[in-house]
Amino acid sequence: MKSTDETEVCIFCHTPHQAIKNDNIPLWNHDLSATAGYGVYTSPTFDGALSAADLGGTNAATAAISNLCLSCHDGTIAINSLNNPSNATGGNPTMTGTGAGGVMPAGTSNIGADLTDDHPVNFRYDAALFAADNSLHDPSGLTGVRLFNGFIQCASCHDPHESTNSTFLRVDNTGSALCLKCHNK
Ligand code: HEC
Ligand code: HEC
Ligand code: HEC
Ligand code: HEC
Repeated sequence: MKSTDETEVCIFCHTPHQAIKNDNIPLWNHDLSATAGYGVYTSPTFDGALSAADLGGTNAATAAISNLCLSCHDGTIAINSLNNPSNATGGNPTMTGTGAGGVMPAGTSNIGADLTDDHPVNFRYDAALFAADNSLHDPSGLTGVRLFNGFIQCASCHDPHESTNSTFLRVDNTGSALCLKCHNK
C-alpha cells in the first residue's frame, strides 16, 4: 500500500502545527481510533495486570503511545485520515492498495481490535514488577528497548522510524535477542 501524491513521509504521523494536542503523544497527526475497548491481556502468571489499562476510547488526553500505532493497525480507520493534511496536496493523501474505506487491508499488518492475544502493552514495568516476576531483567538497566513513562508500549519493541531490522524492531530478534532484553529465561 502507498500514497500516490504524498511525499512528506512524516505527515502520516506528525505535523508541525495543529497537532492532536495532549501531553502524552508527539505532535500527532493521524486521527485516533474510536475503538471503545481492546481488552487487557491476562494469564495466571502475568504479574503486570494490576497496572495494565484498556487502551480503548476516543479521549486523546488518555491516549498512550500504543494508541498511535493502533490508529492505523487496528484496521478501523483510514490510513490517510489526517488531522492536518499538507498544504501541498490540500487534502488527505490519495492511497492505493488499502482495504475498503481506506483502512489497513486484511493480513498480518491488520492486528485487529482485540489485544488479548498479543504481547501485553500499556502496563508499568518497574522495580515492583521485576521483584514480583522473578524472570525479568531490572528495568533500570534495559538496553536497546525503550519504556515510555515506565510503561511498555508497542514502540518499546518497535521503532516506526527505523527499518534496519525486519518489522521495525528495535533489536534484531535472531535467537530471540529482543525478548531476552527484558526476559531472563
Ligand atoms: C508511522 C508513524 C510515524 C512516522 C511516519 C513518523 N513517526 Fe515520529 N513518532 C511516531 C511515534 C509512534 C512516536 C512515539 C514513539 C517513539 O518515540 O518511538 C514518534 C516520535 C517522534 C519524535 C519524538 C522523539 C523521540 O524521542 O522519539 C520525533 C522527533 C519524531 N517522531 C520525528 C519524526 C520525523 C521527523 C518523521 C519523518 C521523517 C517521523 N517522525 C515519522 C510515529 C511516526
Ligand atoms: C521491553 C521489554 C520486553 C520485551 C522486549 C519482551 N517482553 Fe515479554 N513481557 C515483558 C514484561 C514486563 C512482561 C510482564 C511479565 C509478567 O508480569 O509476567 C511480559 C510478558 C510476557 C509474557 C506473558 C507472561 C505471562 O505470565 O503471562 C510472555 C509469554 C512474553 N512476555 C513473551 C515475550 C516474547 C516471546 C518476547 C519477544 C518476542 C518478549 N516477551 C519481549 C517485557 C518484555
Ligand atoms: C499512519 C498509519 C500508521 C501508523 C500510525 C503506524 N503504522 Fe505501521 N504500518 C503502516 C502501513 C501502511 C504499513 C505497511 C502495511 C502493509 O503494506 O502491509 C505498516 C507496517 C508496519 C509493520 C510491518 C508489517 C510487516 O508485516 O512487515 C510494523 C511492524 C508496523 N507497521 C508497526 C507499527 C507500530 C509499532 C506503530 C506505532 C509505533 C505503527 N506501525 C504506526 C501504517 C501505520
Ligand atoms: C514485546 C515486544 C513487542 C510488542 C510490545 C509489540 N510487538 Fe509487534 N512484533 C514484535 C515482534 C518480535 C514481531 C515480529 C514477529 C515475527 O517476525 O514473527 C512483531 C510483529 C508485528 C507486526 C507484523 C505482523 C506480524 O504479526 O508479524 C505488526 C503489524 C506489529 N508487530 C504491530 C504491533 C503493534 C501495533 C503493537 C502494539 C499494540 C505491537 N506490535 C507490540 C514484538 C512486539
